[in-house]
Amino acid sequence: MFTMKHLVHTALLGSTLLGSALLSAPAFADEAAQMALGKKLFATATPACALCHTLKDAGAEGAIGPVLDELKPDAARVARALRDGIGAMPSFKATLSEADIAALSLYVSKASAKK
Ligand code: HEC
Repeated sequence: MFTMKHLVHTALLGSTLLGSALLSAPAFADEAAQMALGKKLFATATPACALCHTLKDAGAEGAIGPVLDELKPDAARVARALRDGIGAMPSFKATLSEADIAALSLYVSKASAKK
């Protein structure tokens, strides 16, 4: 606690660059938590995304739906599929909360965009 306060204080007095990095730290922490939740849900949603989809970052090799590493859907596209279902993929509206859907959408879009 002392260290953080001290750092912020120093940053505000000193470098603008360091200051803005620290001020945006909560956003990074929030995104990291969403990414971790999304990755977990990819394997634990009912039915699990991993059963049907390949996504390297998640260690998933399902072959029923499209390979997400190739499709590289943006977050809005993932969220739409989760809410409405698409083709043979069921809607997850009844089993995933809005927060879960947001976390999964962020995770799948970011993880699939990786090289
Ligand atoms: C029962 C198998 C199955 C499960 C489970 C499943 N999917 Fe799918 N998914 C599919 C199929 C099949 C498609 C292709 C549907 C089509 O285009 O007709 C698809 C399509 C998608 C798409 C592309 C949507 C688009 O706009 O083209 C995304 C993104 C996706 N799934 C993400 C997920 C995520 C995230 C989960 C876990 C919460 C999940 N899927 C669970 C079978 C599944």
